[in-house]
Amino acid sequence: MPRTMIEPFRIKAVEPIRMTTREAREKLLEEAGLNVFRLRAEDVLLDFLTDSGTGAMSSRQWAAIMDGDESYAGARSFFRLEAVVRDLTGYPFVIPTHQGRAAERILFSVATRPGDVVPNNTHFDTTRANLEAGGVEALDLVVPEGLKPRLRHPFKGNIDLGRVEDLLRSRGDRVPFGMITVTNNSGGGQPVSLANLRGYRDLLKRHGKPLVIDACRFAENSMFVKLREPGNEHRSVKEIAQEMFSLADGCTMSAKKDGLVNIGGFIALHDARWVEQARNLLILTEGFPTYGGLAGRDLEALAVGLEEVVQEDYLRYRLRTAEYMGEKLLAGGVAIVEPTGGHAVYLDARDFLPHLGPADYPAWALVDALYLEGGIRGVEIGSVMFGKRLPDGSETYAPMELVRLAFPRRVYTQSHFDYAAEVVCELKARAASVRGVRIQRQAPWLRHFTAEMRWA
Ligand code: F0G
Repeated sequence: MPRTMIEPFRIKAVEPIRMTTREAREKLLEEAGLNVFRLRAEDVLLDFLTDSGTGAMSSRQWAAIMDGDESYAGARSFFRLEAVVRDLTGYPFVIPTHQGRAAERILFSVATRPGDVVPNNTHFDTTRANLEAGGVEALDLVVPEGLKPRLRHPFKGNIDLGRVEDLLRSRGDRVPFGMITVTNNSGGGQPVSLANLRGYRDLLKRHGKPLVIDACRFAENSMFVKLREPGNEHRSVKEIAQEMFSLADGCTMSAKKDGLVNIGGFIALHDARWVEQARNLLILTEGFPTYGGLAGRDLEALAVGLEEVVQEDYLRYRLRTAEYMGEKLLAGGVAIVEPTGGHAVYLDARDFLPHLGPADYPAWALVDALYLEGGIRGVEIGSVMFGKRLPDGSETYAPMELVRLAFPRRVYTQSHFDYAAEVVCELKARAASVRGVRIQRQAPWLRHFTAEMRWA
């Protein structure tokens, strides 16, 4: 049997991408303040900035778009989505939002108070920011293995149950709920095991605390469970996902990932406790509870996406893509987070650019260098994203300096990945010439989106 894993689809619509010269890219990056978020996407050849909202929809999803019911209240498309989410999660209360961070903001506004503390394996940047904006401490308690980029472990996204227990003992009165992010995006797209989820659920339950899943990449996590957690090899991915959700009391979801849509999200909850207030807030800022900031057609496309994403041939190809890229990079001597995660490969910028110190923002510098080298856009997951300027002018730094190359779903083919691996490996040979960067201007939170930088 041939070993090549092919893309399990054929292409029905194409969108041209454009090569630029290095000279042009130097000028474009300079104009963008050395911040690839500020580039025009058409000046990017391969866009690995994010896997969020950048995927290709299937012909079935496009067909569903035509079937969208655009009624303001009680649209058929909402009930369709609600049924799919109920079937998948087991949660009866489904609150659509325009994307994940809206779900987070609404849930956190309802369920937390200033001075609270929320544990998670690793909070994604918007999750952390939405908690902190409400005066809540966002505590990252991933297992120690999750912070060692080269250490191979099947479930590096697991939460450290010992530290959760310490937290619940010492400050339990200020913990409104526990969160867990599947897969652990900021820690390398690493999965969480069912056993860990069960342990976390039990601990929280003993202290009377609910568990909320940040479920953006629930299908990729479920596929990892199938492949890696003994006893799950013969179960369907959907069954595994259903068990995952059954271990928690609710979830926030950015459907722009494993919803296979370009926009959308939801909150889903097991009991009515936060529902009424959340719906009231939804009406205030997102829209009526049967559309929550989305068009009827978006709800339709999402309902189909949630059914397609648990298909195993798709998920096998999906996880293999990151693994394939990882193999090529390792063969070229590039240090990455191992094993590869579900939606991305993460380059270890400290290893790639050993001549740069923390104040040079090595991961940011590497993102810039990759764009200059080959028109590839990645994203910094390092000290610009997670560090902070303190009131006294000093800086805090992130525990890891990573560059994430995140892969849009069903968009790029194997030759695109071959090209990208070549670019990274060629840059590696000249890594000593890459300069550090300094921050020129920054916003008080989520500074990486808008910061202006200069070369050191
Ligand atoms: N939680 C996780 C784990 C995420 O990865 C994201 C988004 C969100 C929440 C917020 O969802 O963007 O729909 O508001 N992650 C994207 C990324 C932006 O590039 O990883 P959103």
